[in-house]
Formats: sequence, structure tokens, C-alpha cells
Amino acid sequence: MRRKLAAGNWKMNGTRASLEEIGRIAADHSTAACEILICPPATLIVPAVAAAGAGSVRIGGQDCHAKASGAHTGDIAAGQLADAGASHVILGHSERRADHGESDADVAAKTLAAWAAGLVAVVCVGETEAERDRGETLVVIGRQLAGSVPEGATATNLVLAYEPVWAIGTGRTPTLDQIAEVHDFLRAELTARLGDAATGIRLLYGGSVKPSNAAEIFAVSNVDGALVGGASLKAADFGQIIAALSAA
Ligand code: PGA
Repeated sequence: MRRKLAAGNWKMNGTRASLEEIGRIAADHSTAACEILICPPATLIVPAVAAAGAGSVRIGGQDCHAKASGAHTGDIAAGQLADAGASHVILGHSERRADHGESDADVAAKTLAAWAAGLVAVVCVGETEAERDRGETLVVIGRQLAGSVPEGATATNLVLAYEPVWAIGTGRTPTLDQIAEVHDFLRAELTARLGDAATGIRLLYGGSVKPSNAAEIFAVSNVDGALVGGASLKAADFGQIIAALSAA
């Protein structure tokens, strides 16, 4: 059985005042049946770990550099995230791919760096709207998966997130059949590559997950949780998503 995962991606949002939301999630969901992860901006990782306490909420980063240290102004190494108390790091989010030109090879190198630091990599893949319209969704996702996930993936060091670019922050989501198609495809691709080890790898759906659509998305085959942006910023919303996942 794969343990479900509710992951929040705060992106470039949040200040110290927002730590209250983490404290509330930790207090309200201490016995949640799913794992909970919140990835705040790097400035908040240390206090977020403190706000989460020893309970069920884990804290992650949103990116790391492929190198362990050195002359890379403005970047953060995976080991620094781990040192700050993070357990996970999101890699290859479409906003990183678009804003910073990250390639699949870059994401694979960062994933190796994350693993070397003992972090769980939450690797993101997803098609643009134009790619979906051209009928290329599975080809694009297969290519991203093959290129972004290096050798050595296991159920304990990798979480994969399917995030259609056109569904992120737009309020639009794929149909449940479309989500199932991609998640079943990802499971099959992972199995072809890793054999039985693929069975335990969690597959998250991300893109406009809200309290109102969470339950139906969590009922889809091979959906093991969600990567949530906007609706993870407030404990009231994210809490409902955690509750829906716990009940799924
Ligand atoms: P959204 O973002 O939930 O705000 O659509 C999801 C994500 O980008 O991880």
C-alpha cells in the first residue's frame, strides 16, 4: 500500500506570519492517515520546521542546485536544505522549467544531488496546452520522465507529480479520465523501467486542486495524493484537502 501524500507548494508566497498556517495544519492533522508536506519559500524553511514540530507535517524546498557547494550566487544546495531541516525538494516544476530554462537533464542532475543529501525528490512532469491539443501528452510526459528521473529511483527517494501546465493556477483541471490515463501511463513506464520497485512510488496530481474537487481526483486510479499550490496557503483549504485524501 502506498502511503498517500498531500503536498503543498507555496511558491513565492508567504512571510513569517504565514507560519501560523503550518502550525494549524500540524495541530489539526496530527493523526492524519496521509503524509503531509509543505514546501515554503527557502526563507521560511527553518522556522517552518519549528512550526511543524515533531508531528506529521514535513517541510521541503522548491528547488536545489545540482552541485553540492560553490560559486553559485543565489542558489541553494540540497545539503543546505537538509541542514535546514527539509526532508523533500520539489524539482522540475514547470515554473522552474519555464522561468529558468531547466531541461530534463538539469532536473535529473538536481535529483541526484537531492538523493546524495538524503532528500526525497518530488519530480514534476506535465504537458502544455498546445502539446495536449496536438495529442502529444503521453509522448511529452514519457520523455520528461525518462530524462528527469535518473537511475536509482526508489519508492523512498522519489515522488512523481503530474502537473499539466495549463491546469496550474488556472482553475481548470483535466477530466478524471485524462488524469487516470496519465497516471496509469506513468505507473506503466515506471514499472517497465524499475520492475516491482515502481509499485511503491507515489504519483501526485497537481494543478488547480481545491477542496471542492479533491475527493473526486483522489478516487482516480494511481493518484496517490496531490501537489497543491494556491489552496495550500491557508490551513482551512489545505486541511480540507488533507481530510479528503485521508478519507480516500
Ligand atoms: P495550483 O498549483 O494548485 O495553484 O494550480 C499547483 C502547482 O503548481 O504545484
